[in-house]
Amino acid sequence: MSNLDDVAKLKVEFIERLGNADSLDSVNDLQIKYLGRKGILTAILKGLKDLPSEERKVIGAAANRVRIELEQIIKQAQEKFAYPEEISLFDPTLPGTSQKRGVIHIVNQVIEDICSIFQRMGFKIATGPNIETDYYNFGALNFPPDHPARDLQDTFFVEGDRLLRTHTTPVQSRYLEKNQPPIKIITPGICFRHEAISTRSHIAFHQVDGFLVDENVSMADLKGALVAFCKAFFGEDTKLKFRTHYFPFTEPSAEIDISCYLCSGKGCQVCKYSGWLEILGCGMIHPNVLEMAGIDSEKYTGYAFGMGVERPAMLKYKINDIRLFFNNDARFLRQFE
Ligand code: DAH
Repeated sequence: MSNLDDVAKLKVEFIERLGNADSLDSVNDLQIKYLGRKGILTAILKGLKDLPSEERKVIGAAANRVRIELEQIIKQAQEKFAYPEEISLFDPTLPGTSQKRGVIHIVNQVIEDICSIFQRMGFKIATGPNIETDYYNFGALNFPPDHPARDLQDTFFVEGDRLLRTHTTPVQSRYLEKNQPPIKIITPGICFRHEAISTRSHIAFHQVDGFLVDENVSMADLKGALVAFCKAFFGEDTKLKFRTHYFPFTEPSAEIDISCYLCSGKGCQVCKYSGWLEILGCGMIHPNVLEMAGIDSEKYTGYAFGMGVERPAMLKYKINDIRLFFNNDARFLRQFE
């Protein structure tokens, strides 16, 4: 006849067998074997009526407790086998979820393109501060005190004579002050202007300036370098047009237009049907600029140029709104992987 020991043993035996069960079917078999109508535990419970009343009470209570326990762990085992996807989480043969990698911002890619073309011509990179003084942004570049570019309308003044640089040209003065020719530098960086934000202009944008100072540098050297750059960046068939212009820091000064490479100069919406696109300013460095930086302008001459980055990027990648560069919309930025 059953006694307390039998009930305890039965529980141990059951738990061990359940631990070895490897499918829902084997768990169900165990359930029938122990707890079914003709199950082992059921038989013990049925046999209680034949026991003396003292024993019946004690063994009956123990057997009932074990029945409740077994029912619980059986239920857990059944659930484990009934939801195989939980197990599949650990399936090492499934393909992994791909992790998206970041991309280099399109503006930085274009800056790298521009710089690498000049680096191949022997230019080295120099940079300067984004917050400039009035002197380096204007004075050292030969801007007269009453030049309109110094107006609050165009420049963000920070404090005292400090301002957010309106171009990357101040790096030229800083560099010339500290170095003697021969000098061959390009200066990529961000600039700021107090403009109304629109599809075509933004308060923050990027420029790359370049300058070369040595003995006997002429406008022909400038032309050679810029023709080579434009063909490398915009395409071998690109034509250039030098238009005279005015900048306080160069004399003579010019602006360069390239033949519109969307319509090859035939005329389209982008070039406003002129066939030409204005892309950079340039000239021979003004002797005053060299002298203010401590370079002998009798002995040395130099050329300089400066271009925006966003505009050529918009042309090259057919982007119609400059604001897209700065909105940080990943859907836009990811296109340039
Ligand atoms: N700094 C000028 C601008 O922001 C661009 C420029 C023109 C830079 C002529 C130069 C240069 O170095 O020689 O419009």
